[in-house]
Amino acid sequence: MSGHRLFERRGDRTIRIQQRDPRHERLYVAGVDGAHRGRHEQQWVDRRGAQGSTDGGTAAEPAPTTGGASTTGNLSGAFETTGLTTSGGVPTTTQDAPATTDPGPDATTTGTSGTSGTTGDGTTGGQGKPAPDNATDENLLVALIGDQGTGSDTKAVYELLLSEKADFVIILGDFDYGDDPDAWASEMESVLGDSFPVFGVIGNHDTDAWSGYQDKLKARLAKIAGASCEGDLGVKSSCTYRGLHFVLSGLGTKGSDGDHEKHIAQVLAADDHLWSLCTFHKNQRDLQAGDKPDDLTWKALQSCQNDGSIIAMGHEHSYARTRTLTDVGNKGASHGATGMAELLEVGPGRTFSVVSGLGGKSIRDWDSGLHGDEDWWGSVYTKNYWLKNGVEEENFEAEHGALFLRFFVDGDPNAAQGYFKNIKGDVIDEFEIVHK
Ligand SMILES: [Fe+2]
Repeated sequence: MSGHRLFERRGDRTIRIQQRDPRHERLYVAGVDGAHRGRHEQQWVDRRGAQGSTDGGTAAEPAPTTGGASTTGNLSGAFETTGLTTSGGVPTTTQDAPATTDPGPDATTTGTSGTSGTTGDGTTGGQGKPAPDNATDENLLVALIGDQGTGSDTKAVYELLLSEKADFVIILGDFDYGDDPDAWASEMESVLGDSFPVFGVIGNHDTDAWSGYQDKLKARLAKIAGASCEGDLGVKSSCTYRGLHFVLSGLGTKGSDGDHEKHIAQVLAADDHLWSLCTFHKNQRDLQAGDKPDDLTWKALQSCQNDGSIIAMGHEHSYARTRTLTDVGNKGASHGATGMAELLEVGPGRTFSVVSGLGGKSIRDWDSGLHGDEDWWGSVYTKNYWLKNGVEEENFEAEHGALFLRFFVDGDPNAAQGYFKNIKGDVIDEFEIVHK
């Protein structure tokens, strides 16, 4: 995953170039600022110099056969050709593709903050500038897993964290399902060793022996140089490590909803790190792939959206990631889902959510009766259904795995990448995140 970018920033816009066969590159153009925010076009570009036609499909279409070396589409202001070249040196021109299903964030009602759509210059801390004080460490790689259980798959997920060289892991609750903190900790230590940075949040299967689990997490925390956590660790806590801020919240599992809502709003408001996560064990039905009920509150998640904090959850034993969300809690407006499945925008008033619940316990089905009509998904990976960036994949056997988020990529503190990899090494999902 490291080393190749799906997207590149070009001035105030983000473009995607993905090679799909030896002769052609697929080019996405996504204007993510100003008047062109959220618009995107797709195009084939012949690397030998022939200009292809715009296409709106997602599969590997045949090579274009028409067009001259310098054909220029009707840009309609969506994208300039000047100074833009592909790796093959071909001018990248675009045609003004239909907006398809995406009217763009500017056309979407924002969340309760009303701050979405403010016009940042999009360049703060960009490439070539010194990293701001609130940036993460460069290339910081964070793993997110939940719903672990015990045994070979659980250990294989730990092995995956090591093989990916994750800098730390946040465990999204439901550890060993056996109320046995010693057994949980010793299995983890048998693979990760005794000093790998581990943070965790309480799950419903962790409540009976919580003080024991929390002691294990405190012991780990004490060994993590530079980590700082305030509050009731794993229940009502706010941490910073290597420039990443994350809230570990037991909302829906332990403590009153109102207290948690206040805590989340307060710690997010008080923090000014560029990248921040809201982590929970529990989830909301609309934001997971199975039949779990609403155990969090929309008010809490709206605080995360208002702050531009990424929402990470467990509890459902599958993987499910949304597109950019700008109106979390408003189901009638698809939670404000907007933009491309594989390019997410995070910042005041916009976020995305993900459930990473394939830590080893079990793998559940996609509930098509509940979720079949939902249009906010970017990628979903369950026992019976795999959607990868909006395209259904077939003939697979679902495996456990982990979500990885890499921050400050390619020298840009505002750029991040995400991917879900399973224990067989398959990349199940991959996407880019731009902080605006
Ligand atoms: Fe759970």
